[in-house]
Amino acid sequence: MRTRTATPSPARRPQLVRALGAGCLVLCLAAAVGCRQDMHDQPKYEAFEADDFFPDHAAARPQVANTVAHGFLRADTGYYTGADDKGTMVDGFPMDELRAHWPGDVADLSDEEFTRVVLKRGEQKFNTFCTPCHGRVGTGNGMIVQRGFKQPTSYHDERLRTSPAGYFVNVMTVGFGQMSSYASQVTPEERWAITAYIRSLQLSQSVRTVELDPDDLQRLEEPPADAAAGHGEHEAPAGDHSGEK
Ligand code: HEC
Repeated sequence: MRTRTATPSPARRPQLVRALGAGCLVLCLAAAVGCRQDMHDQPKYEAFEADDFFPDHAAARPQVANTVAHGFLRADTGYYTGADDKGTMVDGFPMDELRAHWPGDVADLSDEEFTRVVLKRGEQKFNTFCTPCHGRVGTGNGMIVQRGFKQPTSYHDERLRTSPAGYFVNVMTVGFGQMSSYASQVTPEERWAITAYIRSLQLSQSVRTVELDPDDLQRLEEPPADAAAGHGEHEAPAGDHSGEK
């Protein structure tokens, strides 16, 4: 159905034609001035573009042999991956190197203070990235496992309690079986920190009471503060090695 406004009256027609003409003129001017390809077609090579200048006819040049991008040398594979060049796992913690690479100013901290800083960071990162599967205490009973993912071996298993620290760093760096690498989520420093925290978890579940001093022994007998507050962890008890492969 046609409406009345769709057909302008003859009297208004010249006005319309003039308006249309002006519109066209503006468009043409804009096209003439603005639509140049220079910005799109810059004098540069794009990825994989061919070029006759080089003998191999490729514009992209190979990296110069034996050069490394600034900050990516990582010559100390033991520190960065937990395993040295021959694949031997690093035993113990490279504390000096860790301190040298640690973000923030830790130069003036005593060894004990620095260890505390490392453990704190390790706890935070472990709780963020590892507990979903390994659980808060490392028994391998995290929420994702409870929902059907493969259960990892408990950290309190004899084999893992006696594994060198570098082994844990290495698993986080390269992955292990169904567990993917965490190299993109936790830095090398954080991998050592998480490992330190795992060591403290292992100790917390395996220390012999005769090795404790009397004060600690007494604290062990008291109910834990957060259990009293109703925030107790619902973890499988230590020594439950049902996750063993
Ligand atoms: C999505 C679940 C998941 C997350 C998150 C996860 N893991 Fe694992 N992890 C596994 C599974 C499953 C295995 C066993 C893999 C297999 O046997 O195929 C495993 C194995 C391991 C092992 C090797 C144990 C052995 O038997 O030798 C270590 C060490 C480990 N994880 C550490 C970590 C650390 C540290 C983190 C956090 C940075 C982490 N995992 C995060 C699922 C996970």
